[in-house]
Amino acid sequence: MAESYKHRAVPALDVFKPDIFKDKVVFVTGGGSGICYAVTETLMRLGAKAAIVGRNAERLRGAADSLSKATQSQAIATPADVRKIETLQHAVKQTIEQFGKIDFVICGAAGNFMAPIEGLSPNAFRTVVEIDLLGTFNTVRATMEEVKKSHGNYLHISATLHYSGLPWQAAPSAAKAGVDALSAALAVELGPYGVRSNCIAPGLIAGTEGADRLVPQGQDEMVLGFMPMQRIGQKDDIANAAVYLFSEAASWITGQILVVDGGSVHFRGPFLPYPDSVLDTKSFKSLFPGSKM
Ligand SMILES: NC(=O)c1ccc[n+]([C@@H]2O[C@H](COP(=O)([O-])OP(=O)(O)OC[C@H]3O[C@@H](n4cnc5c(N)ncnc54)[C@H](OP(=O)(O)O)[C@@H]3O)[C@@H](O)[C@H]2O)c1
Repeated sequence: MAESYKHRAVPALDVFKPDIFKDKVVFVTGGGSGICYAVTETLMRLGAKAAIVGRNAERLRGAADSLSKATQSQAIATPADVRKIETLQHAVKQTIEQFGKIDFVICGAAGNFMAPIEGLSPNAFRTVVEIDLLGTFNTVRATMEEVKKSHGNYLHISATLHYSGLPWQAAPSAAKAGVDALSAALAVELGPYGVRSNCIAPGLIAGTEGADRLVPQGQDEMVLGFMPMQRIGQKDDIANAAVYLFSEAASWITGQILVVDGGSVHFRGPFLPYPDSVLDTKSFKSLFPGSKM
C-alpha cells in the first residue's frame, strides 16, 4: 500500500518578502494567545506593528513583550472586552496615540465550550454570541473610521463548524455564521472606500484550547482519517493565509471566506460519535477517554 504524503506547514518568511508589511499597523482582538498571537507574530516579522486586545491585561502585556522581543518590531497591549464597545474605543485611541493609524484589523476574540443544546442555558448561548458576533461588530464599529482613512483591511477568524450541524457546538456555530454574514455586508458597504473584509475559516489547529478539547490526548491519528492533507493544521497555516489576504496580491478579493483546513470540509466524518453524542449525553464523555472536554 502507498504511504500518505504530508506537506509541512512553512513559516511565512520562507515564502513572502520580509518587509511586505513595513509601516503597517494591525489591531488584533484575541492577539494575546493561540492562533491570533501566531498570526500577529508573523505580521510583525514581516514589518507590521501591532496592538493586541484581550481582557486579561497582565497576560496581554506579557504577550506584547514577547512579541516585540521575538520580532524586532513593536507590539502594545490595549486591554478591552469586545462585548463593551467603549472599552474597544479606548483601545483604538491608545493605538492611534502610539502608532498614528490602523491599517489592518483582525477580529479573532472568541469563546467556546462544548455542550448539547439541551444542556445550554440562554446565558451561555448569549455569552458566546456576544463575544464572537457582537464582539466582531463592536470591533468593526470602533475601528472603521481609521480603517477607511488607511484604505485598510478586515480579517475575521471564523470556523467551519456551521457548514453542517455539528453536535455540541450550536452556540459557536450560530455565532460564526453571523460573523461570515457580517463580513460580507462590511465588504459591500466599505468596498467603495477601498476597504476589504474577508474571513479565514480554520480547521482544527494544533496547540490550541479548541484542539485540546476536541482531540483526546494521543489520538491525533484518529482525526487524520477525515483530513485529506493528512495532518492537523498548524498556526503557520493560518498565518500564511492571513499574510496573503492582507497583501496587495489579494487586492481584488473581498467578502470571501478562505477555508484553511487541509480539505476536511469536503470529507467530513462526525467529530463526535453519532448518534451516541446526542442520545447519551451523560455517559458520552467516557467515549472520549483523555479528552479535557
Ligand atoms: N483552535 C482551533 O482549532 C480553531 C478552529 C477554528 C476556528 N478557531 C477560531 O480561531 C480564533 C482563535 O482561536 P484559539 O483557539 O487560538 O483561541 P484562544 O487561544 O482561546 O484565544 C481566544 C482569545 O480571545 C480573547 N477573548 C476572549 N473573550 C474576549 C472578550 N470578551 N474580549 C476580548 N478578548 C477576548 C482571549 O483573551 P482574554 O481571555 O484575555 O480575554 C484570547 O486571547 C477564534 O476566533 C476561534 O473561534 C479556532
